[in-house]
Amino acid sequence: MATITIDIISKLFRSRAYPEGLLSLDNIRFGVADREFVCLVGPSGCGKSTVLNLIGGLDRNYTGRIEIDSRPLSHDGSHPVRVGYVFQEPRLLPWLTVRKNIYFALESIGVPHSEWRQRTETWLEKVGLAGFGDSHPHELSGGMQQRSAIARAFAVDPEILLMDEPFSGLDELTARSMRQQILELWDTTRKTVLFVTHNSFEASYLADRILVMSPRPGRLRQEMKVELPRPRNYESSQLFEFSVQVTRLLTHGGNGM
Ligand SMILES: Nc1ncnc2c1ncn2[C@@H]1O[C@H](COP(=O)(O)OP(=O)(O)OP(=O)(O)O)[C@@H](O)[C@H]1O
Ligand SMILES: [Mg+2]
Repeated sequence: MATITIDIISKLFRSRAYPEGLLSLDNIRFGVADREFVCLVGPSGCGKSTVLNLIGGLDRNYTGRIEIDSRPLSHDGSHPVRVGYVFQEPRLLPWLTVRKNIYFALESIGVPHSEWRQRTETWLEKVGLAGFGDSHPHELSGGMQQRSAIARAFAVDPEILLMDEPFSGLDELTARSMRQQILELWDTTRKTVLFVTHNSFEASYLADRILVMSPRPGRLRQEMKVELPRPRNYESSQLFEFSVQVTRLLTHGGNGM
C-alpha cells in the first residue's frame, strides 16, 4: 500500500534576486492512489520538479502538508515506504562505475550484499545496458547515463516511483522502449507512480490520470482521467486525439480546479 496526499499551500524560493521570495507553488492539492499512475504536466518553470522534490523529502521548506500512507513526511525527510526517484538529470556519482552506483543505492537501503549483483545485472539488462556495468558515467552518452539512473531507481524496488522527465533526453525509439518497460513493471508490480513530463502524448500514453499545471506560480489547472484501454497503441487515433486535448489545456488553459 502506498498512497500520496499532497496539500501544498505555498512554496516560496528566496534568492538574491527575490529577497521577498518568488512564489513557485500556490495551493497544489491532489492525491495519488495506491498503484495509480499519475502524470503531472505543465510548462517549463511551473514547479513540476519542485513538487517532486517536496514529495521526495529533498526540500522541506514549504507551507502545507504531504502524507505518504496517511503519515506526514518526517522532519528528516525520510519516508515510511521506499521511494525511488529518477531526476531530470542522471545524478550518478562520477567516481563510481555504473554497477557501483547501483550497489551504493542498494547498500543505503539495506539490501543484503548477496542480492546486489543479480538485481543490478537484471536492471542493467532491462534498460539495455548489459555489459556497461564497469563503465564510469563519463564514458556513457547522456541517454545511457539516464538509463543507468532508471536502472538504479528500479533496482531498489520502491513502492513509490517519482520520475522527473526521465525520458526527455532519450531518442524516441529508446524512449518508447523505456515507456513500455515502465508500464510492464507497473503492471506486474503495481507501484504508485508520479511521473512528470511536458509531453502531452507521453502523458496520455502512460497515465491513469493527468494533472495539468498552470505557468508559475504553479497551480492545478485541470485533471483528466485517461480512460483509454490498455495496452495503448502509439498509432491509435484516440490516443492522438486525447493528447491534443491535453496540449490544448497546456497552452490555452482550462476551467481551473
Ligand atoms: N533553487 C531554486 N532557487 C530559486 N528559485 C528556484 C529554485 N528552484 C526552482 N526555482 C524556481 O521555481 C520555479 C519552478 O521551478 P521547477 O524547476 O520546479 O520548474 P519545472 O516545472 O520543473 O520546469 P522544467 O520543465 O523546466 O524542468 C521556477 O520559476 C524557478 O525559477
Ligand atoms: Mg523540472
